[in-house]
Amino acid sequence: MIQLRQLTKTYGEGPHRTTVLDHLDLTVDDREIAAVVGPSGAGKSTLAACVTLLEPPTSGSVVVGGRELSSLGERDLRDARRQIGTVFQSDGLLSRRTAAQNVELPLRYLGVTPADRRRRVAELLDRVGLSTRADHYPHQLSGGQRQRVGIARALALRPRVLLADEATSGLDPEATASVVRLLRDLRDDLGLSILFITHEMETVLDLADSAARLDHGRIVEQGRVVDLLRDPSSSLGRALLPRRAHAASAPGTTWSVSYAGADVPPDWLARVGTVLGVDLALLGASIGAVDGHTVGHATVAVPASTDPDALVRALAGLGLHARRTDAAHPPVRRVDAVLEPVA
Ligand SMILES: Nc1ncnc2c1ncn2[C@@H]1O[C@H](COP(=O)(O)OP(=O)(O)O)[C@@H](O)[C@H]1O
Ligand SMILES: [Mg+2]
Repeated sequence: MIQLRQLTKTYGEGPHRTTVLDHLDLTVDDREIAAVVGPSGAGKSTLAACVTLLEPPTSGSVVVGGRELSSLGERDLRDARRQIGTVFQSDGLLSRRTAAQNVELPLRYLGVTPADRRRRVAELLDRVGLSTRADHYPHQLSGGQRQRVGIARALALRPRVLLADEATSGLDPEATASVVRLLRDLRDDLGLSILFITHEMETVLDLADSAARLDHGRIVEQGRVVDLLRDPSSSLGRALLPRRAHAASAPGTTWSVSYAGADVPPDWLARVGTVLGVDLALLGASIGAVDGHTVGHATVAVPASTDPDALVRALAGLGLHARRTDAAHPPVRRVDAVLEPVA
């Protein structure tokens, strides 16, 4: 478990003083993947550096596995850091060492015997699905494979917590998917707490249990991913599952319908049409499952003669939230849902 309490980091003095993390509270439970998202410069990497105390926080506390890290002396801190495995955007592998030798490094530093090292490295490479690549050098591996070797190395000292800063950024979709699968397995099999820092919303949707949005060093919104997606007023929810422009314009009025409840029936469109005695046309939809819950939204066209209140009531009765979005009622502009790529 990771607990950050009122974590604050400032750089510089006097007039040059800038606050990069501003009284930030965040908890990542055991067996939880918590994503922190935010644009470039939001303070994400500073957050990662403060969790491992590579950067000492200016104030506030960092508790990992029940130990308050900022109170520890150098030696205890070194011990405590072993509970935290770290993975970064560039895999950080040594290019002149094989996959197995890279994974072995932390064990060597710790003075583990050669026989135990061999056993543990084989176990770790198997864990990340790279047993057959043990003797490959980094340049002989794909980006996704290199990142998985980096994860194997991060796991070498059996950490309780994994810290990933842009670990999938720059990977192609297939490689990203392989890292996402691996991290979810590690959460489930080892009960790890994973703090996953990224600017990629799509990966958050596939991976995380909870998400927090960091902006100018403050957490401006956070929650379980499924709750964010169901909340029509959540800008983080909208950013996680963006609305695409629908293909055709249709006669009548256009409505944006989102899954707000837990038990939306799969045939809701037909049911509402029957109740109101009209045909509803589906113009676009993005619907999927997150942790076994159906979430998403659809754009539907409704005949102009339909009573809008009756429509909203019929949809609400099925757990759906509706908002009119045609020219007469243009959607609210989403400024805050757009994230820039990292520099
Ligand atoms: N060592 C430092 N000294 C001064 N400012 C820094 C230092 N490290 C980071 N910053 C500033 O902190 C802000 C957040 O940076 P960073 O944590 O790297 O953001 P992100 O990872 O979200 O892109 C930036 O404005 C950056 O210039
Ligand atoms: Mg960064």
